Amino acid sequence: MTCIILAAGKGTRMKSKYPKVLHKVLDIPIINWVVETSKKLNPEKIIVITGYKAELVEKILPDDVVCVRQEEQLGTGHAVKTAYNFIPDDEVLILNGDVPFINEKTINEFIKFREENGYQAAVLSMVLKDPVHYGKIIHKKNKIEIKEFRDIVDEEKMINEVNSGIYCFDGKFLKKALENLKNNNDQNEFYLTDTLDMAEKSGAMVVEDNFQVLGINDRKELIKMNQAIKNRINNELIENGVTILDPENTWIGPNVKIGMDTVIYPFTYITGNTEIGEDCIIGPMTRLHESTLQNNVIVQRSEVEFSKVMRNVSIGPWSRLRKENVIEENVKIGDFVELKKAHIGKNSKAQHLSYLGDATLGENVNIGAGTITCNYDGKNKFKTNIGDEAFIGSNSSLVAPVNVGKSSLVGAGSVITEDVPDYSLALGRGRQINKKDRIKK
Ligand code: UD1
Ligand code: CA
Repeated sequence: MTCIILAAGKGTRMKSKYPKVLHKVLDIPIINWVVETSKKLNPEKIIVITGYKAELVEKILPDDVVCVRQEEQLGTGHAVKTAYNFIPDDEVLILNGDVPFINEKTINEFIKFREENGYQAAVLSMVLKDPVHYGKIIHKKNKIEIKEFRDIVDEEKMINEVNSGIYCFDGKFLKKALENLKNNNDQNEFYLTDTLDMAEKSGAMVVEDNFQVLGINDRKELIKMNQAIKNRINNELIENGVTILDPENTWIGPNVKIGMDTVIYPFTYITGNTEIGEDCIIGPMTRLHESTLQNNVIVQRSEVEFSKVMRNVSIGPWSRLRKENVIEENVKIGDFVELKKAHIGKNSKAQHLSYLGDATLGENVNIGAGTITCNYDGKNKFKTNIGDEAFIGSNSSLVAPVNVGKSSLVGAGSVITEDVPDYSLALGRGRQINKKDRIKK
């Protein structure tokens, strides 16, 4: 089976300088929702038809997707014809790039529906109360016809079964039909929908859950879909043992996994392939992205991205784990601490106002308030290593590359530019002078 996804249109009603399919639902571009679902069907090829600002769309698609450009958008039939050379003789599935929530189960049923009925062409349809904008399904003997809303005559206005924009074809038939397509309609476009009436046998399968085939055409629909999918995801998590105290103001992406008895406080965003263990406390006001948190982790009013956090760690309030951090068990990261490419060993603490970048800390290390690893000289980045049990006094600057040995102590306010051996006291600051009674004079 080959899958073709139509995404060349501008999406005029979105009123945007970006192609419609780049707008995001739960932080994932609309087109990527469709591509991800099509991948689950294991097609031989996934082809995305791009057109309007094609390079922007192509940039965000996975490498194993083939992009075919439709330079001029002359209609959905014309779009599919652009990929003519990729159309196989066997099965072709066509998805709309702006219909993001179709799931693979429905598609598989739909593919079976076409095969079992021996249709050359089939369409997934839905029944709507007020079906403006959609193409209407007209049932004839052995086949169906699809008429766009703008082309229908009065008595057809009553029809409420409409085209979802998802099709399944016999490839041989599709190629022939595309060659014979005409554009004699109200918009002078080549309509893919005209092919259904060209088949000897074609049919429509009504989808059970309309939500799956709703398209996104303007910003109101975009916002509505964001809310709707958010509610679905939150409900599923709640049903599976996660406490989400304020589901209205908690946004969790579709690829996030959360363990039982974890509590999510309001105003929290969790995106990407984030995995959270059991008994965690997340939020309020926290953002987690592409990270793994083991059991019993607390993250309050903080951001964690591209990081790994082991058991019993506490982060925040107001900290930022920027990228590629590994935080071992029982660590405490307190307030206003920024970490980047930091490996923090078990039981270590950085409780207040610190920057630790390109740094490796051993176990039981104590980082005093205001400690900064100076990892950047304006051109290159350098590493800081701090041994087990070391104690860094407050307001110290560790000028990388530098190593602080095991169990050593750095005096408060030091600027450390040379390695500190194990079990040593390092002082790198001006000596205090007291001038007695100077003020009285
Ligand atoms: C289309 C269907 C309509 C159906 C509706 C479902 C046709 C003629 N009509 O209408 O029956 O009810 O979808 O959503 O097919 N596209 C291209 N190249 C083009 C034109 C469109 O790639 O030249 C892409 C768009 O980017 C979009 C999809 O095809 O992803 C559908 O196009 P759109 O203009 O939204 O079609 P509708 O008018 O909604
Ligand atoms: Ca549409």
